[in-house]
Amino acid sequence: MRTYLVTGGAGFIGSNYIHYMFRKYGDAIRIINVDALTYAGNLENLREVEDRDNYTFVRADITDKEAIQKIFEEYDIDRVVHFAAESHVDRSIRTPEVFIKTNVLGTAVMLNCAKDAWELPDGSYREGKKFLHVSTDEVYGSLEEDGGYFYETTPYDPHSPYSASKASSDFLVKAYIDTYHFPANITNCSNNYGPYQFPEKLIPLIINNALHGKKLPVYGDGKNVRDWLYVDDHAKGIDMVQEMGRLGETYNIGGHNEKQNIEIIHIILETLLEMLPQDDARRAHISKDLITYVEDRKGHDRRYAIAPDKIKAEIGWEPETMFKDGIKKTIAWFFEHEDWMENVTSGEYQKYYDEMYKEK
Ligand code: NAD
Ligand code: TYD
Repeated sequence: MRTYLVTGGAGFIGSNYIHYMFRKYGDAIRIINVDALTYAGNLENLREVEDRDNYTFVRADITDKEAIQKIFEEYDIDRVVHFAAESHVDRSIRTPEVFIKTNVLGTAVMLNCAKDAWELPDGSYREGKKFLHVSTDEVYGSLEEDGGYFYETTPYDPHSPYSASKASSDFLVKAYIDTYHFPANITNCSNNYGPYQFPEKLIPLIINNALHGKKLPVYGDGKNVRDWLYVDDHAKGIDMVQEMGRLGETYNIGGHNEKQNIEIIHIILETLLEMLPQDDARRAHISKDLITYVEDRKGHDRRYAIAPDKIKAEIGWEPETMFKDGIKKTIAWFFEHEDWMENVTSGEYQKYYDEMYKEK
């Protein structure tokens, strides 16, 4: 039985990955989920798996070396899948230090502890041990509107404190691969969407605001482009890279779904109206009139777009969920989990929301 140490498993992608892995492997794997439960970590995301005998939650901060060491001592970890990070660009512009601490120092701690647990006296590693570092396409910087794609060979050019901290963490992983022959892979993925996404990110924020008749804030001219991937496709890609990828290699994940932010907002409004029953009172306030252009994000990257050629050629992964289907699944999930959204949008998140948008 393979044992996984998943960091940040109570967040958006981490929790979807854990659900994906239990759907795929059932009782054939064990998962230890380590999460500090910051504002972005929500154990409700894992309610369906928390009673499984092969699932364990450990509340710990990845920058806490002793706590992470203890987990490696207690369990014979075969796979690390490292999601834990501060992940929101707007927050990184306000409070960069926490991004540097978690994303850079936290990754260094994870690498060190895994290396200590797995390395043999001759510098080789115990059979079958693997570390996967989950990163972002934002490390490559910004593309021109009219062309070009991110390849694994594209030079790093991060602009936000978030992407700079992720780039730093990627370089640490690369340094461990080059210096210690550490058995790792890096995946750089495009923007994800789907169930359990925290409503500070564009898609869940727009769905939630539209349903409540609140303004839909569009940064700048609304023409920035992101390459959206349904979160289950990402989870599948991570698993395929870890099992089939060449150790030491980076794989880009994403592709074929570039959309301007304003297009995303129009699609969400149309899909909400298509899916809500005719007698649902919320239909009355779902309208394009809610769209409100606000001050642009500082240093706002214009366009991201992934060329997934390498992962397709070497591993056979490609994006499966068309945006029109993925967005319907996502909205259906939010309809069925209104209590989740209510819990998330109360308290801490609300304070943050007010602070972030009061000047806009
Ligand atoms: P998220 O913000 O939803 O979740 C992050 C999780 O990490 C939370 O559960 C949080 O509690 C936990 N965490 C934060 N700091 C921690 C610490 N110091 N110690 C332990 N746990 C801590 O993020 P997400 O959107 O699920 O992203 C997960 C990973 O995927 C990140 O590394 C991110 O950079 C990367 N990524 C995200 C996207 C995207 O579109 N969301 C795209 C590409 C890559
Ligand atoms: P976001 O979901 O924060 O992801 P990222 O910045 O990591 O790509 O934002 C996606 C895009 O949507 C980005 O171009 C910024 C824009 N955006 C808005 O226009 N309004 C909003 O309220 C938010 C949160 C984002």
